[in-house]
Amino acid sequence: MSGNTKDVLTVLGIETSCDETAAAIVRRNDDGRGEILANVVRSQLDLHKAYGGVVPEIAARAHVELLDKAILQALDEAKLAIEDIDAVAATSGPGLIGGLIVGVTMGKAVALARNVPFIAVNHLEAHALTADLTDGLSFPYLLLLVSGGHTQTLIVKDVGDYERLGTTLDDALGEAFDKAAKLLGLGYPGGPEVERFAARGSASIKLPRPMLGREEAHFSLAGLKTALRHEALARAPLSEQDVADLCASFQEAVADIVTDRTARAMDIYVERLGQKAPRVLVVAGGVAANQRLKAALETTARDHGFRLIVPPQALCTDNAAMIAWAGAERLARGLIDDLAAPVQARWPLDPEAPPALGAGIKA
Ligand code: KG4
Ligand code: ZN
Repeated sequence: MSGNTKDVLTVLGIETSCDETAAAIVRRNDDGRGEILANVVRSQLDLHKAYGGVVPEIAARAHVELLDKAILQALDEAKLAIEDIDAVAATSGPGLIGGLIVGVTMGKAVALARNVPFIAVNHLEAHALTADLTDGLSFPYLLLLVSGGHTQTLIVKDVGDYERLGTTLDDALGEAFDKAAKLLGLGYPGGPEVERFAARGSASIKLPRPMLGREEAHFSLAGLKTALRHEALARAPLSEQDVADLCASFQEAVADIVTDRTARAMDIYVERLGQKAPRVLVVAGGVAANQRLKAALETTARDHGFRLIVPPQALCTDNAAMIAWAGAERLARGLIDDLAAPVQARWPLDPEAPPALGAGIKA
């Protein structure tokens, strides 16, 4: 069990790193288990839809307008007053800098006014620790993090202790889904649209599976996207069936790539930690909502003797409950920050990881 304190802690979490304005209240009980008292997410999707992606300036302004209302709603839903909060945790990176500044400034202001600790939370650590909150997992476990901005496999050894195994050399997985959707004329966010169309298509179009069988556990998705563009151009103008077939073929290629790379990460995990290490694979991030990918990972995990854990969808996509929980876990270990803590656009979980050849800023 991850707990080592007897105190019951009630933490307010704030998330503003991308296009969700979120506030939540989580209680960490004296047995180390967590409980979500309120989880408010105010999506800005409608504001960004027309642009086919998140516009940082629009996001930052919307966070300013929505955040205090989200916090008040969270307190209301939890039936708590601000005096009942033991600490405030806010996402301090990685993410869009304007939004991060809004959330962190609000978090520090509340902590200062209430004279309670402030915790600067790494958004990726929050995704990584969500399974402790939902499933009471103990460390270590293998994490596959697949979101709009990140595609990584990591060994989660403890709070604040991560070893990165694989990362993407180019596009993140969610980004690849979004770009695929855009080039096929589908809406934003692209992942759910591609999945919806794929259900009506046949995976009959040949697309490449970059990096398959490679020794290191890295991912590459840009070549797949380019191949999809060529196949789409070759068939233009696209019928609805063409779009469905292209989506199904793309999704199958993604499932093959992700399962192969994750299988490699499972092998490395066992090599590193030994045969007795708990064989648990946690999948987190928005792309974990994809049912085809989940089914494929289920099979791969079973073949490797791993148990697959996918937290509920509302806790896989961006939310503040995971931020509050990561804050509570850090607070329980005495890991608090001062009010000068900076926001960080880039903040890798494993700063020691060697740069992956060809990887850009997302590594
Ligand atoms: O974790 P998340 O909510 O936000 C980030 O931190 O990025 O992930 C959003 C990403 C988007 O790229 C979206 O297209 C993708 O998750 N996504 C999906 C599905 N639902 C969301 N990708 C594939 N299949 C889905 N069903
Ligand atoms: Zn995220």
